[in-house]
Amino acid sequence: MENLNVYKDLIKRMLTMVDAGVTDSAPAAYRQPSSVYTDPALFAREKATIFKDEPQLVCFSSDLPEKGSYFTFDDLDVPVLLTRDNDGKVHAFLNACTHRAARLKEGCGKTASLSCPYHNWGFDLKGKLRAVWEEKSFGAIDKSLYDLVRLPVEEKYGMIFAGMHPDVKVSVDEILGHMAPVFEMWDLGATRFVDQHEWKLKTNWKLALDTFCEGYHFLALHKKTLGGISIGNTSAFDTFGPEGRNHRLAFPNESIKRLKEIPEAEWGMDIFNDFQLVHFVYPNISLLVSPVSIEFFKLYPGANPGEHRTVFRSYVRSTNDEKGWDGNDPQAHFDFICKVVDEEDYWVSANVMKNLNAGMINFSTFGANEPALQNMHKAFLRGIGTTPEEAPVGKVGAVASC
Ligand code: FES
Ligand SMILES: [Fe+2]
Repeated sequence: MENLNVYKDLIKRMLTMVDAGVTDSAPAAYRQPSSVYTDPALFAREKATIFKDEPQLVCFSSDLPEKGSYFTFDDLDVPVLLTRDNDGKVHAFLNACTHRAARLKEGCGKTASLSCPYHNWGFDLKGKLRAVWEEKSFGAIDKSLYDLVRLPVEEKYGMIFAGMHPDVKVSVDEILGHMAPVFEMWDLGATRFVDQHEWKLKTNWKLALDTFCEGYHFLALHKKTLGGISIGNTSAFDTFGPEGRNHRLAFPNESIKRLKEIPEAEWGMDIFNDFQLVHFVYPNISLLVSPVSIEFFKLYPGANPGEHRTVFRSYVRSTNDEKGWDGNDPQAHFDFICKVVDEEDYWVSANVMKNLNAGMINFSTFGANEPALQNMHKAFLRGIGTTPEEAPVGKVGAVASC
């Protein structure tokens, strides 16, 4: 990896905070009405705006590893088919035949062309209709009018972003802003897929996302897992992308203190063992990145405000040994992350939702020490065309005022 200096600077920031017993902070605590998690009208607007009008990080380049690869994406209401053509270029289409709309592909794999399972029409990997089955009896049609429905897509820095309708503008550099060179350095496409897990949980999608966006809970909720590793309640917080709506959090581990005794010139790649890096990419992605592995969480709204689905995909650098890295087996690492999320973060998200549904907790409070949560939720409200407004001062439980 080049440009280790970016992360040396981050280490220095964290060491200063650790020494002073402080963390990057917002100016003050912020109260958010509970309706943000429970209101069906707000939920419908989120689905119609921030999920439909904004580019989505769908997968990495390694999910379409070679010419002829295809990858389907069904996490939102629009079935998407990605292909890599024989020139290596990635395309995104509605996963629908233009004869009578049958689904073309399932899952992922490799193919020379796209053949519809319903009546056998054939398309090339660029979406052109090439063959109408039993064409003589079907009757003459202008084939040029029957190309697959194209969706916007861009592949850059090993990531593939797509829009869920043809008018969505997809610009990876715009999405990443000043952090683009850092993502370029990570080259997230140079990875090997390890495993996938899905959660369907009775909680709002944002409540699940909240657990990725602060370290205030580390030493309490994760005391048996991360408690002995992380310093807790300390993070370096940076924003990036349009209106700073994305963020990066760096959480120092206890082991970071060892670097105080080592001259900076001797700091090497092992500094990445001394902190955890979590990136939020608007509206629903949490990316945990290290030189050896990538944890890719995609969080989606369910059928109503109280249901959500997370797709978690884990990757290791393709250059790493199949059997393991840092003394760990990638599959064991994947299983560990699933267990922490399942038994700790998502356990708490589901019980929070149950309590919010009871209707007597009228606002949640994000502390000054939780700046990423404040920033992210304000961006969601802007995204649905609402001005962020703090819940009125008053006692929790004053239902009528909310
Ligand atoms: S729907 Fe695809 S060939 Fe008929
Ligand atoms: Fe957590």
